[in-house]
Amino acid sequence: MSGLLSGRLAFVTGAGSGIGRVTSQLLARDGATVVAVDRNLDAANATIEALNTKNDHIALEMDVSSSDSISKVLRAVTEKYKRPPTIVVNSAGITRDNFILKMPEADFDAVVNVNLKGTWLVLQQFGKAMVEHNSGGSMVNVSSIVARSGNMGQSNYSPSKAGVEAMTKVVAREFGRYNVRVNAVVPGFIETPMTETVPQKVKDMVIMQCALRRFGKPEEIAEVISFLASDRSSYINGTSIEVTGG
Ligand SMILES: NC(=O)c1ccc[n+]([C@@H]2O[C@H](COP(=O)([O-])OP(=O)(O)OC[C@H]3O[C@@H](n4cnc5c(N)ncnc54)[C@H](O)[C@@H]3O)[C@@H](O)[C@H]2O)c1
Repeated sequence: MSGLLSGRLAFVTGAGSGIGRVTSQLLARDGATVVAVDRNLDAANATIEALNTKNDHIALEMDVSSSDSISKVLRAVTEKYKRPPTIVVNSAGITRDNFILKMPEADFDAVVNVNLKGTWLVLQQFGKAMVEHNSGGSMVNVSSIVARSGNMGQSNYSPSKAGVEAMTKVVAREFGRYNVRVNAVVPGFIETPMTETVPQKVKDMVIMQCALRRFGKPEEIAEVISFLASDRSSYINGTSIEVTGG
């Protein structure tokens, strides 16, 4: 696998933890230079410090829900590398779970702003730079199986992720002519800080419903993201790949 992404500049949001962190590691393993962004800069720095390659990786602070924050980072990246990334991974995401009857409106807005609008803003700004640079590329969004199944307590999160899947199909149609592919991964339940707080009773139920009878590991999502980022998936576009253990 090594060298599959050699010479490629990869941009990963939510790179300070979980799936985004491990994706940064695997993209670097496969030869890419990684720009790891997170609203938590210390966490993004820790991701980059742990990368074990000679490439000129960098960590930057960025809030995906802020258009200004994204513009600043895009400018900094194109100034440093003299080109925009050709791999963009939208892994930043949050949960604010509660039954709808108890959920504050602010928790609906927060989740939609990060998961759905944040993905839109990154696709728009980085997509524009990729189109203008005319170098093609691959953008990978992170949805969730609960977008399809529904999940109690996630009347904000689940639709935000369904929106990510719909957006993936739309933007793939719009960017296809520029040779920029857009796809999504649809993870099941993955062992990351995001799922650490899920009560054991709920975890046991999830495991019983999974054919492989276990949570997934972030590596198992990151491998699919690396595949979608690479030319090995050159005719896969506008689709979503479930990675749930069945
Ligand atoms: N863990 C799971 O079971 C699972 C399942 C399906 C989908 N997902 C999705 O995968 C993605 C990664 O999740 P994870 O499990 O690695 O979570 P995580 O909490 O471990 O990591 C998420 C990262 O995103 C960052 N982030 C949050 N809001 C941000 C913002 N506004 N701007 C920039 N960075 C921000 C956080 O600081 C954190 O470092 C998310 O989109 C999540 O919804 C996770």
